[in-house]
Amino acid sequence: MLKEKKVLLGVTGGIAAYKSCELVRRLKDKGAVVKVAMTDAATRFVTPLTFQALSGNPVRTSLFSMEEEQAIGHIALADWADAIVIAPATANFIAKAASGVADDFLSTFLLASRCPVLLCPSMNSNMYDNFFYKANEETLARSARFRILEPASGELACGYTGKGRLPPVQDIVAEVEGLFRDLDFSGLNILVTAGPTREPLDDVRFLSNRSTGRMGFALARAARSRGANVTLIHGPTFLEEPTGIRNIAVKTAEEMAAQTMAEFEKCNMLIMNAAVADYKPSEKTVGKKQKAGSWNLVLERTVDILSGLKDKSKGRVVIGFAAEYKDVEERAKNKLFRKGLDAIVGNDISAEDRGFESKVNAGIMLDRFGARSELPLMSKSSMAHRILDSVRSLLEKVKQ
Ligand code: CTP
Repeated sequence: MLKEKKVLLGVTGGIAAYKSCELVRRLKDKGAVVKVAMTDAATRFVTPLTFQALSGNPVRTSLFSMEEEQAIGHIALADWADAIVIAPATANFIAKAASGVADDFLSTFLLASRCPVLLCPSMNSNMYDNFFYKANEETLARSARFRILEPASGELACGYTGKGRLPPVQDIVAEVEGLFRDLDFSGLNILVTAGPTREPLDDVRFLSNRSTGRMGFALARAARSRGANVTLIHGPTFLEEPTGIRNIAVKTAEEMAAQTMAEFEKCNMLIMNAAVADYKPSEKTVGKKQKAGSWNLVLERTVDILSGLKDKSKGRVVIGFAAEYKDVEERAKNKLFRKGLDAIVGNDISAEDRGFESKVNAGIMLDRFGARSELPLMSKSSMAHRILDSVRSLLEKVKQ
């Protein structure tokens, strides 16, 4: 995937900068041509000479180098790069990237570039949790050009234990490879559902579930970054809607069913990731129900969207999800056939560190032709790409 690809590695001023030396080696092992640019702060941690020796290319550090800027070097380098990796990316650099600040070589170069960018944030865990940092990350994540690799958890150089470590070098290399995937969904209409539904008890209260919508949003973004026309039907979520995608916001299972049915005919593939409520209150009180002793709820089944599409799916790929507490594979397999799906992703929700309300996920993928693949613990964005890799070939198979 990386053979002869031109990769610009941007190193910013964090202690993890030393790990980027290894990253240069591994990228070169894969056949990439690597050039390095460093911020001033990064040069306090590792010398440019180290990166020059490892990459075999001169290292850029200054926007005002008479020699390097003779031919407007930062623009030339921006045109040269097939992909950019910023590792480690400090909170300060992420803030500059999110707001288009160009006040040194690396930030100016980034603004002038048009190729895909992988950002590998690494910082103190409190900085990582900071509101401003999160807002900046979200701004960048809205662009299909930027991919953000979730930092790893563990002991941090500052003495804290938490999230903020630069992920293992092999994970970064795998993500860089991901930047070069073809636009293999180009021209395809992909319909994704995401998030929970809310079933109202009255105008204040509702029944819902722990889904945040992250997995479905990641799938929608991944499909878009691979060239698809994406429609995303989502339940209530605090996530910002992805850009470049048709977003349809719904609340109840009934609304989600109506929208999904209406959009289904136009799609080549439906990825039914939404955690649709299985039950809704039989009665909804108008206004706010007043307290009076106990409240015995009567619930009734909601419409099963996937089962309703079973006979209408000819020529379309339909993918479901199964969040299970136990016997994940067996239950997922059962749902695959019961709901007439082409593929299903089963994930184990008994582990607290993944799935619902988490930024990472793991699972198992099965298709009706007998293929089976394990999806180890990874960011939801990586998992989205892995799922798309597996289901791409089904588009041809369902036509046969
Ligand atoms: N699903 C659906 N309509 C519903 C409920 C679920 O289309 N009313 C879809 C989900 O989006 C998911 C798949 O069906 O892709 C499996 O959802 P899940 O809740 O795990 O399955 P259920 O059929 O509801 O089975 P159970 O809750 O009994 O495990």
